[in-house]
Amino acid sequence: MLAQGKLVAFPTETVFGLGANALSDKAVASIFKAKGRPADNPLIVHLANREQWASVAAELTESASKLLDAFSPGPITVVLEKQPGVSDLVSAGLDSIGIRIPGCEIAREVLQVAGVPIAAPSANVSGRPSCTTWQAVEEDLRGRIDAILCLESAEVGLESTVVDCRSSDPIVLRSGGVSLEAIKEVVPAARLVGSADVEVEFASPGTRHPHYQPLARVTVVEFSNEDESVMGVLRAPATSEGKVAYCGLKACPDSKAIGLKRIFASVPEYSKGFYEFLREADRQGATQIVCESVPEGGLGAALNDRMRRAAARG
Ligand code: TXA
Ligand code: MG
Repeated sequence: MLAQGKLVAFPTETVFGLGANALSDKAVASIFKAKGRPADNPLIVHLANREQWASVAAELTESASKLLDAFSPGPITVVLEKQPGVSDLVSAGLDSIGIRIPGCEIAREVLQVAGVPIAAPSANVSGRPSCTTWQAVEEDLRGRIDAILCLESAEVGLESTVVDCRSSDPIVLRSGGVSLEAIKEVVPAARLVGSADVEVEFASPGTRHPHYQPLARVTVVEFSNEDESVMGVLRAPATSEGKVAYCGLKACPDSKAIGLKRIFASVPEYSKGFYEFLREADRQGATQIVCESVPEGGLGAALNDRMRRAAARG
């Protein structure tokens, strides 16, 4: 189906992807249409193996090579100079291209069988939380795409780390499954976008748009806060009995407002279950979701980033 230009959702170790032939303008255009995705947000090209990089990128830089050696196949995307032949639709008119080799074996098998590079954003309606189950993909995209590979994966639960590797000082554009600390161990010059010396204009185009947002209003409470401040949110006048969903690492105080509650055992477990929790809260009709933030280290940076974006209302 992919080789025929159709849209197929498939699992990866991060979130489900919505794949189409990256070499077909028509197929790529249909991804944007199915998701309602703004045309200025570029797509990541997924490859079955590292050797395929030359089909979409012009040059594999030293930093990209080091990062792929260390973390690929896995939850990392490297941004490189684009091969001129690749459609401008995929890169949203940029002269760069993001490539990723998924850690999930099934995903790589799909890519191998397809035989073409596959452009794949997260398989959700644009602006909604990403999907970590095939049922969530069906909920968002049924009738708009051609097939869903109904398998389980999404071990990580948050998207790949996107690193612009075009210069010798790579810039982390989106935190994700591979932590900044781990990246710096391999390429010490790597910097995070938004940090003091990195202009925000480098940010991924995707960061301009609303992301990861459920229907319910999301509030983030600081992990270091005492229970009382959490209670403050739960007592807010807008909340009514049973209409609040709560997720976090620490036990939350009893409150009649809370109708759905999930306490995760660790940051990785929280990351894995976060998007599905947001979706479950919507399914149960919650009007507000209170999320406890986590310490910034490691995967925590990516999880906090997604919470903040889920909470941001444009
Ligand atoms: O884990 C993932 O990366 C998942 C799975 C399916 O692989 N995919 C994913 O794709 O999260 P998407 O489209 O939801 O997010 C891709 C992000 C966007 O923020 C986009 O702006 C950025 O990567 N991006 C893609 N190509 C880029 C480029 N050439 N330059 C800068 N940012 C780029
Ligand atoms: Mg996405």
